[in-house]
Amino acid sequence: MEVSDFSTTAEVKIPTDPLLQIIGQDSAVKIGRLVGQQRRNLLLVGPPGTGKSMLAQAIAFTLPKPTTEVLVLHNPERPERPIIEVRTAATRKAQKQSPIELFDPSVIPSFVSEKLGFRCRRCARLSSPDASSCFACGADKYRKVRGPFEDLVMGQGVEREDRVHTTRVVDGREELIIFERRGGKVAMLTQKDLAKMAELAKKAQFKVLLSINRSTFIQATGASETELLGDVRHDPYGSHPQIGSLPYTRVVPGAIHEAHEGVLFIDELSSLGKMQRFLLTAMQEKKYPISGRNQSSTGSAVRVDAVPCDFILVAAVNFNDVASILPPLRSRILGNGYELLLNSHMPDTSENQCKILQFLAQEIVRDGRIPHADSGAVDELISFARKKAKEIDGKSGLTLRLRMLSGVLKMAGDVAVSNGKGMITREDVKFAMKNSRPIEEQASDKYGSWYRASLADLGMKKDVSGTEVG
Ligand SMILES: Nc1ncnc2c1ncn2[C@@H]1O[C@H](COP(=O)(O)OP(=O)(O)O)[C@@H](O)[C@H]1O
Ligand SMILES: [Mg+2]
Repeated sequence: MEVSDFSTTAEVKIPTDPLLQIIGQDSAVKIGRLVGQQRRNLLLVGPPGTGKSMLAQAIAFTLPKPTTEVLVLHNPERPERPIIEVRTAATRKAQKQSPIELFDPSVIPSFVSEKLGFRCRRCARLSSPDASSCFACGADKYRKVRGPFEDLVMGQGVEREDRVHTTRVVDGREELIIFERRGGKVAMLTQKDLAKMAELAKKAQFKVLLSINRSTFIQATGASETELLGDVRHDPYGSHPQIGSLPYTRVVPGAIHEAHEGVLFIDELSSLGKMQRFLLTAMQEKKYPISGRNQSSTGSAVRVDAVPCDFILVAAVNFNDVASILPPLRSRILGNGYELLLNSHMPDTSENQCKILQFLAQEIVRDGRIPHADSGAVDELISFARKKAKEIDGKSGLTLRLRMLSGVLKMAGDVAVSNGKGMITREDVKFAMKNSRPIEEQASDKYGSWYRASLADLGMKKDVSGTEVG
């Protein structure tokens, strides 16, 4: 296949698998697939714009959906120590479906249906418990209580009851059962059901910390400890029983928790500095407590233990920063994963030119605001990729610093759109190449060098050697 077989980028078939959209990094793609399948870690080293973030996202895409949801429950005995509960999809479903069967009033013992107000005590017909007299014989289903003590004195009030306690014999043992009115039906509750209901009531106060529908891709910038490790928010009323909010409601997960079962992507790992230690602990334990990180906050007294954080770490660093990765963290990654150096360029073969073509088509479709490119534009962009490989890496080949190429393509697309054209042509690309250069390059065109430009910016007329600026 040759690039010349295509007359526009619209003819290119784009792979649906995000890993296959990454071009020129074949071993990275292969390893990326393993990382997802085997849940390993990955350290990516390489020049900017070569696909490190893209690879991390593509790995996350290959992962199965999370199977557990994590709840934080109110702890009535110690509110400042909320409890974690991990539910699988199956237990979640079982808890959601009411396990209690509802019966029609006609099938339950008649003394029970009488007490619950379904059955007439005189003629035994069934009617709604809301009707006070039997529709068939007209009898009063509920005897009105006339005086405040009548019930007590006579001990025979027939007020409508909501629950009837009785017993039944199961396997030779007597067991308590309760019939409870639920609308027009009757629930039969065994001791087991009652215990379960008490348990559920205890758990009624909870918050979903990590939803089962969460994303498998979480990116952490390392901007703060709370972003990475979670927090318990401040409440000015603290634990005031009436106006304060309960501690469990203020628990916020960190990126390490949100990435549970997924990928935690850390761009510029070295910028985490000392926080790399916490990351290491999280990876070793696969759980990490959440506590209030601001000492002066009412959240600092709150701690939730054992919040799960079983993630795949994908980290990126610049080549120069490899040395500032915490050694035990790096050996942890290597001990259960891979280190990968991304390519900055690839050989200039017709196969690789086709890959650039695929890349251009992908970028156009993904952008959604620019038209497709014709063969002249593609040709010009491939030359640009060739030129940049030479300029930046001093190698003959095609550059894989594709963010840059994408920038030129998008600018060319915008120009085509603004000229009302339905296709990007060679002229648009030429214009974009000329105008999308970084400020540094534009400055050295104008002033000779970046240094001289900064002198001009300061309003200086001459540099140290006495030469005129600008
Ligand atoms: N190898 C690649 N294959 C396809 N597109 C790429 C590749 N590398 C970069 N790109 C394009 O450039 C953009 C920026 O790449 P990114 O993954 O953020 O680079 P990095 O994280 O290495 O700086 C991507 O969104 C994608 O559009
Ligand atoms: Mg990136």
